[in-house]
Amino acid sequence: MATAKPKICVLSGAGMSADSGLKTFRDSDGLWEGYDVHEVATPEAWRYNPELVLKFYNERRAQVRAAEPNAGHFALAELESAFDVEIVTQNIDDLHERAGSTRVLHLHGEVLKSRTQQDPKTLYEVSGDINLGDSDERGNQLRPHVVWFGEAVTEIENAVPKIADADILLIVGTSLVVYPAAGLVSFARPSCRIILVDPNSGAEQAVGLRKVEFIRKPAAQGVPELARRLLGSE
Ligand code: APR
Repeated sequence: MATAKPKICVLSGAGMSADSGLKTFRDSDGLWEGYDVHEVATPEAWRYNPELVLKFYNERRAQVRAAEPNAGHFALAELESAFDVEIVTQNIDDLHERAGSTRVLHLHGEVLKSRTQQDPKTLYEVSGDINLGDSDERGNQLRPHVVWFGEAVTEIENAVPKIADADILLIVGTSLVVYPAAGLVSFARPSCRIILVDPNSGAEQAVGLRKVEFIRKPAAQGVPELARRLLGSE
């Protein structure tokens, strides 16, 4: 009988895609690509200025389409040869999937998909932009399938067992300041090995009292190095 592969759960954030040219949030002076997040990423913004919200996400979507997965994304996909890998990402891009990772849970939604306010479970692929007037078959306006500040993170309940089952928790490129995602770390078993890849030390403090192996490098460098070690080729 084949023995089960060790389980790795990856918790990724904006830093994972930074080396693909997509900006992180908290490295940019409170502005997000020149926008105040409250004006573009809240239910209030959607109510009062949906055009601006759509413009902002149309720009983000175009950036994601133009970006390519980096060596870190590819290394995570390669880990699937020897590990049972679950990715829990806060990122709304599709770079993990494009690199070949097969199990990716998006906590904060996916910018390449749309939905309506009225039917949050029915998702549509977005081929170009979303514009005012674009609607589902019932005539309800489409919005980006992203979780805004102040909205419930419904996928959190699906993320908890993935973290709790992990033998290794690999945290890449997240400041761990946004809840409930940041609270996921506390569900790791006491025996779980926790590894952090980030050029800065903010997330290390956020992990709290747990012992962490800290690889202080950008994702495109630190993740492939770690993957080579885990796969025993170094
Ligand atoms: N490689 C790895 N990590 C990096 C890199 C890099 N090249 N560059 C920066 N980082 C790290 C930063 O040091 C920081 O710890 O990535 C982290 C980015 O943190 P945030 O910008 O806060 O992004 P994230 O943690 O994903 O934010 C969480 O907040 O704005 C919301 O919904 C949005 O999903 C997002 C959530």
